[in-house]
Amino acid sequence: MINIKINEADHAVEEGRTILEVCRELGIDIPHFCYHPGLSIAGNCRMCLVEIKGMPKLMTACSTVVQDGMEILTDSDTVKEARKGVLEFILLDHPVDCPICDKSGECVLQDYNFDYGISKRRSIFPKERHKVEKISEKIYKNDNRCVLCTRCGRFLNEVTKTHEFTTIERGSHTHIACVDPDGLDKNPFSSNIADLCPVGALGLNEFRFRKRVWLTDHVRAVCQGCEAGCNLTVDLHTRHTPLDPNVGPVVRFSSADNYSMQRYFICDEGRYSYKNYNNMEGRLLNPVLNGNEVNEEEALTFLKEATDSGLTGAVVLSPLVSVEENYAAILFAEEKGYDIFRPSPFRKELPEPALFIEKVKAPNHRMMKLLEIPKVTDMESSDYDVVIVLHNIGSIRDNSLVKILSLLKRVKYSITFETEHTEFSENSKLSLPAPMFLEEDGCYINSGKRIQHSTGSLGYPQGVRPLWKWFFGKRFSGPEGLLKQFAKEKLAIELDYEKLGQEGVEL
Ligand code: SF4
Ligand code: SF4
Ligand code: FES
Repeated sequence: MINIKINEADHAVEEGRTILEVCRELGIDIPHFCYHPGLSIAGNCRMCLVEIKGMPKLMTACSTVVQDGMEILTDSDTVKEARKGVLEFILLDHPVDCPICDKSGECVLQDYNFDYGISKRRSIFPKERHKVEKISEKIYKNDNRCVLCTRCGRFLNEVTKTHEFTTIERGSHTHIACVDPDGLDKNPFSSNIADLCPVGALGLNEFRFRKRVWLTDHVRAVCQGCEAGCNLTVDLHTRHTPLDPNVGPVVRFSSADNYSMQRYFICDEGRYSYKNYNNMEGRLLNPVLNGNEVNEEEALTFLKEATDSGLTGAVVLSPLVSVEENYAAILFAEEKGYDIFRPSPFRKELPEPALFIEKVKAPNHRMMKLLEIPKVTDMESSDYDVVIVLHNIGSIRDNSLVKILSLLKRVKYSITFETEHTEFSENSKLSLPAPMFLEEDGCYINSGKRIQHSTGSLGYPQGVRPLWKWFFGKRFSGPEGLLKQFAKEKLAIELDYEKLGQEGVEL
């Protein structure tokens, strides 16, 4: 550790870090465009200039490493004047069209402009004008707003190594050009450049003019797309304004930083999966008994009759649902003396580049493996009277599904928990409506054995109940009680949502 002073206050900081990194950790804000923790340092925007006592000129905080005894000023009058100058240059050709810009509300240029108050343009030359281009199926580019930070190009060069962008021309004509639009279409991570762009120069075609970001609430969740368990920021329609039927309650998924996980980026498949949660078509909203919709009481009577009669039974867990839901089923099976199985999850060939994408398309497959749950396909006898199958199983495609389907058709009491009408619910005596991801808090164990908490913020539609409520009524007050019991009993550790925090815990 070394000792430095920032704005006259003493700090002991780690050696070898840059001033910007140290300040970010200490919560000292230094404006910046080109710096991004997931990319190399470019030092080209000059927005992060700071004063260092003894240095003749202002220095860029993003590329200057702290030295013992350094005295840094991040908000002196000289620094503020320099930032104002940098902004004035950036805004020379900028259209300042915030009212129609999709980045508005989450744009740092807009914030810095407010902070430093550049309201008058001194140049007498007209502003440079460029056409807005749709450069790929997913991305549009508006050069008028570009601040030439090169984050987009560095991401494509350094992270995906696909090199679709380059910087062309010189002086005030300099701009970013897409030299490989087909490559951008094929790149499974291309939409990250819209998040990386600090201004509204790159955006997602499908988000364009769709929603003002200040009309959304943000929650953190775990992607359901594969076993990687990337962290998502979920933008939800705010409850204070009428719901736009063309947009739906789930507005957007983007990456939520988690240094222990995927860090700063997500794949496009995960990003665009938000649409699945806006579609209520085919949703199971009431219990169905022998093909007819019934009320909760009739469904519970059937469930009790099936499971209180001392018959033999089997429960098939789901790698697509949370630890809490699976654990409720395990607990119920253990209390009733039922056998427990798991299906094999759906696998998909990896795209190029794959980076952190996993083949196994199920967010909680690792839980089944950790608990060494036998596969359905390894079931020795299928001589059961009761079979209970957990929801979302319809998305798992392999031989285990054929086996489950034949079991459901054959046994006396077949019960399925489903979010929608599937061939499993259709072939069960009783199907019970279960919540979807985002409708209830839950944890998922990823391929790296990290258990992470995903926020259920949408609430269940009327008629839907979580699985633990169907099984145990009021025995648990919420999913967190199940997580605590699961952690204690199966992992011999103490866990709750607070302990998991935003980063999760490695098991
Ligand atoms: S398009 Fe955006 S990310 Fe790329 S250089 Fe311009 S401002 Fe930076
Ligand atoms: S890699 Fe997997 S978990 Fe991560 S965003 Fe893509 S689908 Fe989701
Ligand atoms: S953030 Fe330091 S020069 Fe751009």
